[in-house]
Amino acid sequence: MKLENLEARFQEKIDQDIKIEPKDWMPEKYRKTHIRQISQHAHSEIVGMLPEGNWISRAPSLRRKVALLAKVQDEAGHGLYLYSACETLGITRDELTDQLRTGKAKYSSIFNYPTLTWADIGAIGWLVDGAAIINQVPLQNTSYGPYARAMVRVCKEESFHQRQGFEIMTTLARGTEAQKEMAQDALNRWWWPSLMMFGPADKDSTHTAQSMKWKLKRKTNDELRQQFVDQTVPQAELIGLTIPDTDLVWNVVNNEYDFGEINWEEFWQVVKGHGPCNKERIAARVKAHTEGAWVREGAMAYAEKKKSSSRKIAS
Ligand code: 3HC
Repeated sequence: MKLENLEARFQEKIDQDIKIEPKDWMPEKYRKTHIRQISQHAHSEIVGMLPEGNWISRAPSLRRKVALLAKVQDEAGHGLYLYSACETLGITRDELTDQLRTGKAKYSSIFNYPTLTWADIGAIGWLVDGAAIINQVPLQNTSYGPYARAMVRVCKEESFHQRQGFEIMTTLARGTEAQKEMAQDALNRWWWPSLMMFGPADKDSTHTAQSMKWKLKRKTNDELRQQFVDQTVPQAELIGLTIPDTDLVWNVVNNEYDFGEINWEEFWQVVKGHGPCNKERIAARVKAHTEGAWVREGAMAYAEKKKSSSRKIAS
């Protein structure tokens, strides 16, 4: 069958919401852009463990420590689901993690900011995981089967992450003056980077148009960002914190919040590797890979031994 007929039939499947599975024919560009997005998503989950892991040993109570441990462990699992989904597109785990360590692959800009106080852990759960839920819920209906299915469990676990973060912020905001100031300071530092998580404005987005056509994306960057602002501003007001945006105002005509201009210069600087913690994050991943070599070698040796002994039994 001619390429154009194959592509037409492929788009018909997408338009009829028929899931694309690993063994189905797909345009090379569809495969490539899924490897791009799913791998960056997986890298984001793994790198995202670093800023939060920084506070596990300093959590203010056993209850907070247990919740944070569970969350960080969940993020590792999300990364593994997503690497597995990505591997179904014909790329190996070693290639994927090598791309992260060598800086060839991106991960979410948000994880290049430092976690300076305990309130940052609350702000990350509330804002970053809150943004992630808004971005990830539509991905449960993305056209690529393995990605959509991976998202179902990820989204369930993200809800717990967001809730434990908002509880931390609520406790601090209703605590002593110093605690409330710590919560407000964290909101001031994490608000705008959280809006940047949704990517550039639609007019500046390289991939959105094609990703919408292929139902990789079900909503655009700006639509999801707007949904996040509209959902989060009332939450801040509920606990007496102020969103650090003097242009924020309810638009009665459009029934949504108008908000200030995002600092896109900062966004692209961070995406290009010049954020506050980019180098530290990659160094941590390189160190973990080097120090974990013995685990990989041991597992491979064991797998090899198992394989050769089952070959002996079979012969
Ligand atoms: N950080 C880093 N790079 C970003 C970015 C961000 N926040 N937003 C956009 N970019 C990059 C894109 O990767 C693309 O670069 P590339 O061509 O080299 O890949 C370029 O900027 C242009 O942006 P586009 O909007 O055209 O790119 P996308 O269509 O891929 O949209 C996205 C970006 C909205 C992040 C999309 O990739 C997406 O929805 N990804 C899946 C969800 C995801 O990865 N979320 C990241 C956070 S995961 C998380 O928060 C875990 C939670 O447990 C805490």
